[in-house]
Amino acid sequence: MRTLLANHPLVTHKLTLLRDAGTGTAEFRALADELVTLLAYEATREVRVESVTVQTPLAPAQGVRLAAPKPLIVPILRAGIGMLDGMTRLLPMADVGFVGMARNEDTLQASTYANRLPVDLAGREAFVLDPMLATGGTLVALIELLAARNAATVTAICLLAAPEGLRRVEGAFPEGTSPAVRVVTGAIDAHLNDKGYIVPGLGDAGDRLFGAI
Ligand code: URA
Repeated sequence: MRTLLANHPLVTHKLTLLRDAGTGTAEFRALADELVTLLAYEATREVRVESVTVQTPLAPAQGVRLAAPKPLIVPILRAGIGMLDGMTRLLPMADVGFVGMARNEDTLQASTYANRLPVDLAGREAFVLDPMLATGGTLVALIELLAARNAATVTAICLLAAPEGLRRVEGAFPEGTSPAVRVVTGAIDAHLNDKGYIVPGLGDAGDRLFGAI
């Protein structure tokens, strides 16, 4: 697993607003949307392309287009939905698969309650959307699901990450193993608290995006 910390000043500026407990739902959603587009720019740096020639009004020009098979975007329900529009804006041709995962607030174990992923992911690049990489349990469970369907690479885009979660994903998918795993995040925070929340973090990302249920 490789980690890319996208600590661009604009990312940090927007993350700071996102963290602020005074930021309301509407502004939070808009910021999350803008942030994922900035992070997605880094996350897609290694996306597979193939050569193509187009005819300009003056001459043929060499270029590239995304290679087949199409990338797959996988938002983890519920909070990952808040990142979907920002990601599809950058990769409008990608397919989208949905996975619902919830963590038990006592045991912090992840369980899958919905799975709408293609059965065969051979050769496909998967981009997982999850705002908070906390314990890493959810992300490891999802990557195992994608690996069982033969995904070629998995890139997780997380607004924030905790060192504990990064270590867990790294332990499960060390560099050199398949699928190749990358985590792109806007910040690596200090630690998790005893409830598995990232500190200082931003609180419950799902609640802040969609309101508490
Ligand atoms: N999920 C969240 O929404 N926030 C955290 O801090 C950790 C997990």
